[in-house]
Amino acid sequence: MPTAALLGAEVQCGDLRVLDDAGVAALRAAWLDNLVIVVRDQTLSDPELMAFGRRLGELDSAPLASTGNEKARAHDEVIVVSNVMEDGKPIGVLRDAEVVWHSDNSYRDVPLSFSALYALEVPPTGGNTGFANMYRALELLPPDLRRRIDELTIKHDMTYNSVGDLREGFKPVTDVRQAPGPSHPIVRTHVETGHNALYLGRRPNAYIGDLPVDESEKILDALWAHATESQLTWHHRWRAGDLLIWDNRCVMHHREPFDAGARRVMHRIQGKGDQPVRRLDANSLPHPRSASASRDNA
Ligand code: SIN
Repeated sequence: MPTAALLGAEVQCGDLRVLDDAGVAALRAAWLDNLVIVVRDQTLSDPELMAFGRRLGELDSAPLASTGNEKARAHDEVIVVSNVMEDGKPIGVLRDAEVVWHSDNSYRDVPLSFSALYALEVPPTGGNTGFANMYRALELLPPDLRRRIDELTIKHDMTYNSVGDLREGFKPVTDVRQAPGPSHPIVRTHVETGHNALYLGRRPNAYIGDLPVDESEKILDALWAHATESQLTWHHRWRAGDLLIWDNRCVMHHREPFDAGARRVMHRIQGKGDQPVRRLDANSLPHPRSASASRDNA
């Protein structure tokens, strides 16, 4: 059942542990069509979560312990996202802070395809996760800006995580031109759907290659103001047992902060992706979910 927004759908398919191959294929198709899907009322151990994830695609371990605070992981492929402390140490990453808009692991040469976040404990309020449709963001870019960025790339800084914590082994960034990280095209062709999307990564310390810094900042500010407009977004309000799966190649996400006194425990798996490319044979039609928006808004 699609949401009333430009992305997101609830998929009702029963217990994921016993879903047959046709059910997985239908769920995967719903994910590509809707960019983000939620499956409710699941009861998954970590091995069951990983086993289901492998049916969507090869899993990626993702970089270990981005801030050095996370305890050794029980499973390489499962990242704990939590504010809970045990024996004075965090059991996971990202605390209770606001998580800025981003696409997972854009600071790697080969970023992730999907991320799947499974809710074990959720706070009574706050901590909602928002998503923005980057196919539609590209389609709605003002023509001048669209032309300006068409062939440009962004360098994606890997120094800080999405709550602003310095990753272990990195030095603070004082000049965006020197920030470490790969460059990716701003217009990215999704290898499975064939549609182009705006690919921005994270705003802090981003740099549009070879431009004067003030020009790069001006263009990035305009892109970010546009891409995070509320008309492009949908926010998920969590319930324990939810599994949310999103496509990092065509959405950005953001998490609201929540009360430090409440517990939030999520387990995340992620799919191996592909090196971002811009293809000349990209599908020039709007992505179907954006196309339905165009009709609705007409
Ligand atoms: C993440 O960015 O992977 C975490 C999102 C969330 O905690 O809702």
